[in-house]
Amino acid sequence: MYNEKVMDHFQNPRNVGKMDDADGVGEISNTTCGDILKIFIKVEDDTIKDIKFLTFGCGAAIASSSILTEMAKGKTLSEALALTNMDVAAELGGLPPAKLHCSNLAADALQNAIADYRNKIEHV
Ligand code: FES
Repeated sequence: MYNEKVMDHFQNPRNVGKMDDADGVGEISNTTCGDILKIFIKVEDDTIKDIKFLTFGCGAAIASSSILTEMAKGKTLSEALALTNMDVAAELGGLPPAKLHCSNLAADALQNAIADYRNKIEHV
């Protein structure tokens, strides 16, 4: 059902955990299943220097979040904002159709984290 890359990111998720000194935090819940994803980012020179995630979600959501953190790390905020949920699913090599909605959290949560960061620096 899942390809090897999805299974790898599910079983060995990258950048999982909480970040206490995050510059931006984005949270989103999946309208289809109610699962939740939280993304934490550390920003330096307009670039994502570090990123972590926590999810209360299924294996596909864990794999999507994990690969998104690898895709986003080192990117400028504009480059990271251009990442779409479809990019995430494609980078995983695809998900079963019934689980495609699970990849909808990752890029959206990242966009919320970037918006949170920008909102904070505008109000300092
Ligand atoms: Fe909820 Fe996959 S079933 S994110």
